[in-house]
Amino acid sequence: MPNTVLVGAQWGDEGKGKIIDVLTENVDLVVRYQGGNNAGHTVKIGDDKHVLHLIPSGIFRDAAVCAIGNGVVVDPVALLAEIEGVQAKGVAVDGRLFVSDRAHVVFPYHRAIDAARETVRSDGRKIGTTKRGIGPAYGDKVSRIGLRMADLLDDSFAERLAENVREANGALNALGAEPVDLSVVVEEARAAAARIAPLVADTVSLVHRAMADRKAILFEGAQGAMLDVDFGTYPYVTSSNTTAGGVCAGTGIPPQRIDRVIGVIKAYTTRVGEGPFPTELQDEIGALLGREGAEFGATTGRPRRCGWFDAVVARYSAMINGVDRWAMTKLDVLDSLETLRIATAYECDGRRYDTVPANIRVLSRCVPVYEDMPGWQSPTSAVRRFEDLPERARAYVNRLCELTGVKLGMLSVGPRRDSTLRVDL
Ligand code: GDP
Ligand code: IMO
Ligand code: MG
Repeated sequence: MPNTVLVGAQWGDEGKGKIIDVLTENVDLVVRYQGGNNAGHTVKIGDDKHVLHLIPSGIFRDAAVCAIGNGVVVDPVALLAEIEGVQAKGVAVDGRLFVSDRAHVVFPYHRAIDAARETVRSDGRKIGTTKRGIGPAYGDKVSRIGLRMADLLDDSFAERLAENVREANGALNALGAEPVDLSVVVEEARAAAARIAPLVADTVSLVHRAMADRKAILFEGAQGAMLDVDFGTYPYVTSSNTTAGGVCAGTGIPPQRIDRVIGVIKAYTTRVGEGPFPTELQDEIGALLGREGAEFGATTGRPRRCGWFDAVVARYSAMINGVDRWAMTKLDVLDSLETLRIATAYECDGRRYDTVPANIRVLSRCVPVYEDMPGWQSPTSAVRRFEDLPERARAYVNRLCELTGVKLGMLSVGPRRDSTLRVDL
């Protein structure tokens, strides 16, 4: 398999974990390049469900090596808990999982600041973060005060952490929140670091060695294009570049070595957290999508907001990611609907928008222009070949591909590995 980037094309939770698990049958190395344990990637093998937050979704394939790249922010305590979780399921981790020595560390004060900021923000200004400390950790990274995995293993670590804790406690005090205790932070981090130390590696060299050996590499995106800090619905975004462009900065692979980009996209749209969502349905149909799709956050358990497929978002996402093929998921969730709507453009104040406007206040007021298609009203989850789908289901999927200018590579009709139709991937 060529070097592949896999990205979420909407607001996250598109089913990346499932698609990665399917694709890693033929992959040697899986590398996460951004985000942190704000991600929740579900892999369902038979009746067993696994949710991964930091560990790449290739971990359940024995032959795949997994790496957490330099662009990821790593909470060592959370990573350790996750490692113990997969080990308890009989998965081997030692020698198969590596963490970049350049990855920034998430500390408890990052989480505390994240939560405190959300608390003090007035309604309408809350982001609805996962409270995993992601924003403050990336903030420290670009402010050049962050500590990296390499620092965590260095003798000077406690001293450097003391300075950061002093500064963080000042910020927590200003936000009216409880300070953190330096000695507790140091002890917790030390204990986790001792266990994680053997996994810390120069993942840049690991990736380049794999390329030299002609191994197949899959770069695993977290979140989705509309949560990208540059291209998403800012400020209602996460704090990293979730799009394909983030791969080079987040792993050290040169751009010309990326062979293809797969966009994972739901056959409808969901969003968890605050921020504009033009095709959101706050009615019975929205509730049905949530119910049929089991749309609850894999990390926080919050109900996801649901709506119609948004071709404006999908087109924009295909463009900025350079998507070569769609891996479309959750078609089965639409099985019972009589009519399906697709947003093809937006309107706001008498103006038509064919792409996502930057001005968040404009986007919040955008009304979708819909095109309707008849539903197929029959079950699709047992179908294994695209040709065997009901004609109206094929017409719907083909129309989404046509409107977005991207070919279908894979279609998913259920959460399990085997509920996958390989079309052109
Ligand atoms: P990710 O963050 O992109 O990996 O997605 P999540 O794991 O957060 O959410 C996707 C959810 O949809 C998970 O519960 C999956 O098990 C489930 N899922 C994935 N593909 C399908 C599908 O084709 N049909 C159905 N019904 N569920 C799916
Ligand atoms: P996966 O990888 C869906 C959302 C949060 C919030 C915003 C900022 O499972 O698709 P953060 O904690 O990152 O500062 O929160 O981003 N968010 C996600 N939504 N899926 C995710 O990850 C998400 N990770 C963050 O809900 O709106
Ligand atoms: Mg998720």
